[in-house]
Amino acid sequence: MKIGIIGSGGMAKALAGKWTGKHEVMLSGRNPDKANAVAAEIGARAGSAEEAAAFGDVVVLATRWEDTFSGIESAGGPSAFAGKIVIDINNPVSIETFLTTRDDGRSLTQAISDHLPDAHVGKAFNMAQVAVWEDDDMTYDGRQMVTLYTADAGADETIAQLIRDVGADPLRLGGNEHAYQLEAAAAIVIKFLFAGRDPQTIFNFIQPEVRAVR
Ligand SMILES: NC(=O)c1ccc[n+]([C@@H]2O[C@H](COP(=O)([O-])OP(=O)(O)OC[C@H]3O[C@@H](n4cnc5c(N)ncnc54)[C@H](OP(=O)(O)O)[C@@H]3O)[C@@H](O)[C@H]2O)c1
Repeated sequence: MKIGIIGSGGMAKALAGKWTGKHEVMLSGRNPDKANAVAAEIGARAGSAEEAAAFGDVVVLATRWEDTFSGIESAGGPSAFAGKIVIDINNPVSIETFLTTRDDGRSLTQAISDHLPDAHVGKAFNMAQVAVWEDDDMTYDGRQMVTLYTADAGADETIAQLIRDVGADPLRLGGNEHAYQLEAAAAIVIKFLFAGRDPQTIFNFIQPEVRAVR
């Protein structure tokens, strides 16, 4: 499939690096030289945000969360996303309070979905840090990494496939009404990382049979 990415930062590069070879990928950013350099490293194309949105059947929103809606505007606004599958990877989390930043009780993903009524929207890839997505082998403790995601019906299968394509095992939490749970869970992971602790000490749920593969 064709994947356009709004952004060419850490997450854009990590995910695109896994998808090139299987898919055609175009990165973008505010700084074209930087987007070009990142794309050249991983065998992707680079273009403007508008070009990336037009290019992709799937468009990944990979700016920082504060820039999500300005990124959508740079790409041409809501009409540029009509008929596309849009993946929100962003964590709207304050790194001062470790609270999610939306005060309307709804997730960023739902706000994106409201803003892009003609797109199919989901949230994925937000629960682990860049270094994990860059990892060639997504097996930890003998277990393949499970990636929780949310999606509306039109985005579900495609997002599951793109998760498989990075080497992880997709598990749909539900529709985007569940996305606030992914955002709040990521806030806890980020708190662990900023505190220099390993999130796996709490999230690596223990099962007796796991010992057998060590
Ligand atoms: N970092 C992680 O470990 C991690 C893990 C999971 C989820 N996330 C989420 O993923 C998102 C991206 O994180 P990141 O670490 O990849 O950020 P990043 O390295 O700062 O990259 C952000 C990218 O967005 C581009 N951008 C910003 N505003 C734009 C606009 N208006 N139009 C077009 N491009 C724009 C920037 O382009 P320029 O460089 O040209 O300005 C840059 O390429 C964040 O929302 C974060 O919450 C991050």
